Amino acid sequence: MPLSLRFVVPLALALAAIAYAVVPLVDRLTFQWFVRDLDMRGALVVQAAQEPLVELMRSGPGARQRVLRYFQSIVQGQRIFALGFCDRAGKLLYATPAYPDAVRCVPGERREARNTVLELADGPLHVSGQPILADNAVLGELMIVHDMSFAQRRSEDTRKYVLWLFAGIAAVVALITVVIAEISWRGWVAGLKEVLSGGMLLRSPAALRRAAPELGPIARDLQALVSDMEAERLARDEGQTVWGPDALRRILRQDLKGDEVIIVSNREPYIHTRRKDNVIEIQRPASGLVTALEPVMRACSGTWIAHGAGSADRDTVDRHDHVMVPPENPAYRIRRVWLSEEEEKGYYFGFANEGLWPLCHIAHTRPSFRAPDWEHYQTVNRRFADVVADEARTDDPIVLVQDYHFALLPRMVRERLPKATIITFWHIPWPNPEAFGICPWREEVLEGMLGSSILGFHTQFHCNNFFDTVDRFLEARVDRETFTISYGGQPTEVRRYPISIEWPPNALAVQAPVAECRKRVREMLGLSPEVKLGVGVDRLDYTKGILERFAAIERLLELEPRWIGNFSFVQAAAPSRVSIDEYQNLDTRVRQVAARINERFGRPGCQPIVLRIEHHDAAQVYELYRASDLCYVSSLHDGMNLVAKEFVAARDDEQGVLILSQFTGAARDLAEALIVNPYDIEQSAAAMHLALTMSPEEQRARMLLDAARMRHRSRVMARARAARRRAGVS
Ligand code: F6P
Repeated sequence: MPLSLRFVVPLALALAAIAYAVVPLVDRLTFQWFVRDLDMRGALVVQAAQEPLVELMRSGPGARQRVLRYFQSIVQGQRIFALGFCDRAGKLLYATPAYPDAVRCVPGERREARNTVLELADGPLHVSGQPILADNAVLGELMIVHDMSFAQRRSEDTRKYVLWLFAGIAAVVALITVVIAEISWRGWVAGLKEVLSGGMLLRSPAALRRAAPELGPIARDLQALVSDMEAERLARDEGQTVWGPDALRRILRQDLKGDEVIIVSNREPYIHTRRKDNVIEIQRPASGLVTALEPVMRACSGTWIAHGAGSADRDTVDRHDHVMVPPENPAYRIRRVWLSEEEEKGYYFGFANEGLWPLCHIAHTRPSFRAPDWEHYQTVNRRFADVVADEARTDDPIVLVQDYHFALLPRMVRERLPKATIITFWHIPWPNPEAFGICPWREEVLEGMLGSSILGFHTQFHCNNFFDTVDRFLEARVDRETFTISYGGQPTEVRRYPISIEWPPNALAVQAPVAECRKRVREMLGLSPEVKLGVGVDRLDYTKGILERFAAIERLLELEPRWIGNFSFVQAAAPSRVSIDEYQNLDTRVRQVAARINERFGRPGCQPIVLRIEHHDAAQVYELYRASDLCYVSSLHDGMNLVAKEFVAARDDEQGVLILSQFTGAARDLAEALIVNPYDIEQSAAAMHLALTMSPEEQRARMLLDAARMRHRSRVMARARAARRRAGVS
């Protein structure tokens, strides 16, 4: 039954029942009113007629004729049906012609009026017998007869009016009910949709109460359910922690009880460079590692040991090679380590980036392993291990070793500081044993890493690959139940730690509103305001799938010509590892392909690809994110990819669409993105078209859910820990 009928039918039935009960009542009441009216009228008539009547009756001969004429005049003047006079003996002495036979005289001396209603075949008659007195004696009764058929007619009319009145009320009430029900229903459906799409799940309890008081309880229950499910998921996912400031601070301070924190990475978080005009400026490197760990260091203080690669780095350290950072608000110190050009070439460009990097990324670039590079790699790892021992103020510091540049460092630090807690994080994927097995120094690399107390990867898949690799190449005890590997009597816990960004990101605080960013960026690029904008932000690296991304843009323009002149994609690409051939070739190819596509589809004032191969600082990157309609992360293989997370974090307007490669760790965390296989050009082009035509509501729903996954992490983590405790899992 349609919704409105569900309200109207019972209402109509109830009103019909009330009308059925009310009509006879109203009928009876109005009849009684008429009778009472006629009773009073009889009394008035007799009051007026008493004296003249008695006089006429005693007026001698011809009295009868005079009385009858008088009666006739009363009947006509008062609109009475008939008049008669009965004497005390019950004899009808005078009567007008219409006086009915049925109205009989009753003998007796009555001083009170008597009123009756006679039901005759022609209709009811009201008879009022009024005593006529003379000299204080009763002469007889004046019989006043009223025809009551008018009352019957009026009563029928009344009944009709009452029925119409009820029908009218029913119609008006039904109409109001249907309109209110319809409006409420629509409100409910819209509210419920928002609840189910996730929108309301993200609001605070107070905002929830304000937004939808009636749906508040449902949304709250759903919030609890989603959080519980997430908590359970995390609790099930043994060892999962977000490698963010909160989690790390908690691990360091509570779980590890450590006071002294030392980070070791190749890339430093602040690079001092000397410009051509001799002014020293500070650069923040385009590095996911730095993005993730710098907030941790700001929170924990400590020492960050890194390669001093900036042209003015030596000019800005003290005599112990230290410099306090961040420059505007110093919170921790960097200890710079100096490398010769040859060492950097062998260790960084050679073994790390031409060997391990392509080895671990399945991006179809062959790794190169050269013995001299390996020599330098060992030397540099040893140098850093010495610096760690030198910097340590206690014999049990917490040492956070970062990435594939330092596979040997954990064991070397363990030899120097046996009581240290060494947490190594591998920021890139870990391949399967067959792929890893081609490394000539595979056992040494694995042995070095197993000097760690804890070893972290982004995904469980990479952890499992690592277990398989150790199983294959080392005499070690691999326990997949407890996620622990024991080698040489020393245990290493292997855990999945999906790296994340600080929330809300620092860079967001200085950003203009989205509308202004959109305007500014379009003006800067010479685009008209209605042009849709896509963005890609990467280091210029072959693993990022930039050429595949451009191919997808080209295909989009072939398939959907409406975007020609109406869509532009800004590719911000930070130059990276420029002295490696593979990277130089990539640089050339990227420029060529962008130029070819622009030539083919460029229109005055709108190039399909705006290529910016230069360093962008965080503020510029966040402005681009906020100005764009879509962000495409097309990595061919990526440990996590923080650009994807930054894009979501940058969109506090809850708009914009993220297109994300299925080969990134982030694809596991940001399930509401449009997930694509970047090698599948048709699919990626279709995803771009979908993103460009997606409704604002759908964009909001997707953004909110992904943002919630990141933002609510800390709260969910607390629930997860509670759930684990309840389940007895330590
Ligand atoms: O992705 C691995 C990684 O070390 C990241 O942590 C970092 O974003 C990037 O490579 C930096 O590369 P490089 O220091 O060689 O410029």
